[in-house]
Amino acid sequence: MESEIVDESCVIRSRQVAPLGIALPKGRLLQPSLDALRGIGLNCPDTDELDRRLVYETADGRVRFVIARPADVPAYVEHGAADLGITGKDVLVEGDWNVCELLDLGFGKCRMAVAVPAPADGPDCGAATPSLGSPRLGQTLRVATKFPGIARRYFAPRRDLCVQIIRLSGAVEIAPIVGLADAIVDIVDTGRTLADNGLVVVEQIMQVSARLIANRASLQLRSAAIFPVTSALGEHRSPLCDAMAH
Ligand code: PRP
Repeated sequence: MESEIVDESCVIRSRQVAPLGIALPKGRLLQPSLDALRGIGLNCPDTDELDRRLVYETADGRVRFVIARPADVPAYVEHGAADLGITGKDVLVEGDWNVCELLDLGFGKCRMAVAVPAPADGPDCGAATPSLGSPRLGQTLRVATKFPGIARRYFAPRRDLCVQIIRLSGAVEIAPIVGLADAIVDIVDTGRTLADNGLVVVEQIMQVSARLIANRASLQLRSAAIFPVTSALGEHRSPLCDAMAH
């Protein structure tokens, strides 16, 4: 295999080849991402190995895995530190990433929702239906979230609500308990975290799943290496037709 070194007007071939870089998300998407890549024949390390080494190159030198926080995966891909990446649709919608979204990988399905404290009698007791309510004139609805962009865009058309977005880095479910916020915007998967913290979903914002993204230049310059991966992963998935990642 040869590498391509672009030199202004021409492509110079060299014997040295850069491995195909794939940025993978730490956390709950890591295992299904590795399973998917293994399923198409890539020689992937196991998660224990990746816990120790955040950059892993296959023995044949063809693929290099970079393990990053899900929110950082698009940065690695946009800036060319990785040719491909896997992350959640929530991350892509939240950021203004210049990457190419290629596939909905079909795993990591969850939803982005607005949640509030459950009514005093509990959600299952036939008490008042939980809702955002109608804040009085001049009253502000404080919304805590890791996704300020998504929350801001979601509430923007709601002229009935005066919304203050409070950005947090995690554990946003705590915010209503301690009086920091009236509501949260967050990912809901099993719903366990909400339930454990006395919160209920009142509005759903979007469905989320894992997406395959690519560096735009890599798609042109490394298509021979990328195409087999994307076509194998996409065999049972619908391509997103080079849509921008938001
Ligand atoms: C996400 C999300 C919720 C939780 C929901 O956090 O922010 O806290 O998962 O999952 P559940 O509905 O299955 O309970 P994550 O675990 O990714 O950790 P983080 O808060 O550190 O981002």
